Parts: sequence; structure tokens; C-alpha cells
Amino acid sequence: MVKRGKFIVIEGLDGSGKGTQISLLADHIKKTGSQAYFTAEPTASSVGGMIRDALGGFVRRDAYELSALFLADRIFHNANPKNGIKRYLSDGIDVVCDRYYYSSFAYQGIDADLDWVMKMNLECKDIVKPDLCIFLDVDIDLCESRIRENRFDREIYENVESQRRIRKRFFEVFDRLMGRENIKIVDAGRTIPEVSADIIKIYNELKES
Ligand code: TMP
Repeated sequence: MVKRGKFIVIEGLDGSGKGTQISLLADHIKKTGSQAYFTAEPTASSVGGMIRDALGGFVRRDAYELSALFLADRIFHNANPKNGIKRYLSDGIDVVCDRYYYSSFAYQGIDADLDWVMKMNLECKDIVKPDLCIFLDVDIDLCESRIRENRFDREIYENVESQRRIRKRFFEVFDRLMGRENIKIVDAGRTIPEVSADIIKIYNELKES
């Protein structure tokens, strides 16, 4: 029987360095001769496109509508038989996902009812629980300066006030999930190699478990 793959989620505020760290993790996984499927939310599906329009501010959607769109996109992301997360895991391939339901809790959970958002995601049988979530924690001011340097257009959540509320929500959510989920918080305000070394150590520990 094939050993089920591990499901790893990388989370963080906008400008927390997720992209850089995920590509360094990919290099490490390649070097060890292992295989992993790298993916992200929102996905490139048609619902993902609707979400991108809302994030870009082109279409106005309230927090409940947005939560439901992320939920539908996540169900598709898990269950689609061609390249869904469930399929990779059952084929024994690890999955590394840039954002997952923790982002719905922290981002939509600031305006929509957090209990409702959590229940919809956590109780859905088609949404797999990750084996590990690594949260890249960065000071809001550093995120803001990175957003300012790297973005031409800002998305609806990319402002200091929202990011502050979202970061607070992330920590409230992690408290609520304590004992139920494997969440590791990494200080991502350090140098890129330092942060990467921590992420690789946590990944290696999971692989050895
Ligand atoms: P990113 O491509 O930079 O990760 O941006 C995705 C944006 O989508 C980011 O602002 C966070 C937001 N988001 C939510 O609001 N809810 C979610 O469930 C997910 C997955 C992302």
C-alpha cells in the first residue's frame, strides 16, 4: 500500500516572504530526491478568477460572499479528480500549499462571523486537514514596506489597518486550534537563510515522524 503524502500549508500576511520561502523549500525537497506538488489558493479555477476580481477591487463582494467563494474554490482544490490535493496525497505525493483555510479564518473572519467561517471549512468532508501549517510571522511595518516596494496595485486587504486586524485574527485562530492542528510559528523578520533553515528543520521533522 502507498504511504499517504504529507500536506503542508505555508501561511503569512501579505508581504511576509511566503513566495521566497516556498521556492527555497522546493529547492530543498528537490535536493533530497523527494517529490512534492506545489499549489496555492486562490486557485486558477473559474471561482479563483472571481475571487481575484474581488481581491483586486474590480467586483465588490461582502465577507460572507467571499468566504463562500474561497470555500467553493477550496473544495474544488481538494476534490477535483485530475489534480486535486486528495489525489496527490493518496498517490503518496506530498503537497505544499501557499495559503489554506487559516487565511479564510483570518481574512474573512475579520468581517464575517468567525465561528461560521471556521465551521463551514472544518466540518466539510471534502476539505482535508493539513499535517502541518507554518505561519511566517512578520512585523506589520516590514510587510507594508515590502508591499510598497513590490506591488504596483494593492489588493483590498493590502493596507496597514487590515493587516493589523488580520494578524491578530491569525493568532486568535491558532489559539482556538491548539491541540487540534499542528501549527508552527516562525519568526520571518530575520534573514532569508535563517528563516529558510527553520522551515526546512520543521519540514524534516514532519517527514521523519
Ligand atoms: P497571495 O496570492 O499574495 O497569497 O494573495 C492572496 C490573497 O487572498 C491574500 O490577500 C489573502 C487572501 N485570501 C483570503 O482572503 N482568504 C483565503 O481563504 C485565502 C486562501 C486567501
